[in-house]
Formats: sequence, structure tokens, C-alpha cells
Amino acid sequence: MDPVLILDGLEKAFGGLQVTSAMSFSVEQGQLSAIIGPNGAGKTTLFNQITGYLKPDRGRITFYGEEITGLTTEQIVARGMGRAFQITSIFPEETVLDNVRVACLSKLNQTRRPLKAVSSFKEATDKAYAILESLGLKNHSDRLAFELAHGDQKLLDIGMALGLEPKLLLLDEPTSGMSPEERQLTRDLIKKLWKEFNLTMMFIEHDMDTVFGIAQVVRVLHQGRLLAEGTPDEIHNNPEVISAYLGEDLQ
Ligand SMILES: Nc1ncnc2c1ncn2[C@@H]1O[C@H](COP(=O)(O)OP(=O)(O)OP(=O)(O)O)[C@@H](O)[C@H]1O
Ligand SMILES: [Mg+2]
Repeated sequence: MDPVLILDGLEKAFGGLQVTSAMSFSVEQGQLSAIIGPNGAGKTTLFNQITGYLKPDRGRITFYGEEITGLTTEQIVARGMGRAFQITSIFPEETVLDNVRVACLSKLNQTRRPLKAVSSFKEATDKAYAILESLGLKNHSDRLAFELAHGDQKLLDIGMALGLEPKLLLLDEPTSGMSPEERQLTRDLIKKLWKEFNLTMMFIEHDMDTVFGIAQVVRVLHQGRLLAEGTPDEIHNNPEVISAYLGEDLQ
């Protein structure tokens, strides 16, 4: 099977600062992979290019065999890409249910005529509840999003992405700001969602227990370049990776 996502020679600079250099790799269907690297390595900037928030200066992005370089985020999402953010993008003043329901409705409206609005609403509500159930947030459905604990807000952000029925889901630091217990739960949850929703998933993460605990493939970014790509074992033992990044963590 062809890869889901192919990056071919992406380049991006902000003024004189080169943040993405010669970035090429492929993501296979059904893969659960991690991107690691020091602060400022260019991880989020890479996700911004893949999801159409930023246009690469050079290079090409192919998603399910179609070139998507230069398409808008909306067009890319409509093709089956979902994303949760390093800083959550939830609507704080809306209920937990509505946060997910609005995503479900938007997905249904891509494919339905307006006459079907009432049945779409019911279908979106059912789907939103099912997603909240998978996330363990169903009991909080009627609360306002800002009332949730930080960790639950991060999960809600993932719920909104799931509402758009992505085939490829990108998560930017899903466990950041969480307690060790919450991290453990989120790690298990990511794996569960990956299986349950039949996803290809790629997540950026600084928490090495999460990275080495669940990723099948790890990619290391360093100063905008892909320093290494391999299985968790290969990455863990790669001398270049240890000196550039992991050393401080593993000692
Ligand atoms: N819109 C922008 N304009 C100018 N510089 C930017 C912009 N976005 C990011 N940068 C810079 O690009 C570099 C890479 O940032 P990026 O956010 O991609 O890093 P990161 O690997 O996600 O880091 P972290 O682990 O801290 O989230 C940093 O030096 C950052 O300051
Ligand atoms: Mg980042």
C-alpha cells in the first residue's frame, strides 16, 4: 500500500532562520509514530505546513496520492487530516458536548444537503456522545469547556479533531502540562483511539515514556532537519540522537 503521507524536500524559513530543511519522510497507513526533538527544533512548524497553516518555501506534500502543498487547512481537513494543538483550540465558553458536536456537524455538512439539517443534528449529537465516551469525558458533556481540568481540555481538543473523522490524526504534545498519572492515562488512550478509530497517527511529544511506550516509529528533528528515523530501540541507541537530544533525558 502507498504511504498515507509523503514529505519531499520541505524547506521553510522565518526571515533568516531556517526552521525546516530538506525534510523528507513517509508515513505508512495505520502507523503510530512520534516526532521528538529539542524545543525550537521545528516540530510544530512542520505540523503547520502539513496541515496548511503555513506554506513551505519549497518541497511537496502528498496525502493519499494527491499533492496538497499550498491547499488551505479547510481543504486538507476535508481530505481526511485531523489535528489537535499544542495549545488547545477548544471553545471555552461552550459545553463539552457542543465542542465536539460542532466538529461532527461540520463533517456531516460537507457531505449533506441543508434539507437534511435536522437529521444531521441528531446524528452529530450521537456521534459526539460516542466520541466523548471513548475519551472518558461523557460525564462532563454538559459542563462548559473551560471548567474542565487542563488534561481533560487537551482530550477535548482531540475529541474535536476526531469529530471531523480524520484518517490521519496529528497530535502536538498531547501530554504536555499533565501529571504523571494523567500522562499514563493519555498514553493508553492514544493507543486505544488509534485502534478504535482505525487511525494513522503521528504525535509530537517531549515525554519519553509516552514516545518509547507506544510509538512504532520515532523521528527525531534537530535544527529543522530529520536527524534520525527508526524503531524506538534504534532511536534509543543511536549515538547521534543521544548526543543531540536524548542524552540529557537518559542520564
Ligand atoms: N510564525 C513564526 N515566525 C517566526 N518564527 C517562528 C514562527 N513560528 C515558529 N518560529 C520559530 O521557529 C523555530 C521552531 O519553532 P517550533 O514551534 O516549530 O518548534 P518546536 O519544535 O515545536 O518547539 P517546542 O518543543 O518548544 O514546541 C523556533 O525558533 C521558533 O521561535
Ligand atoms: Mg511545538
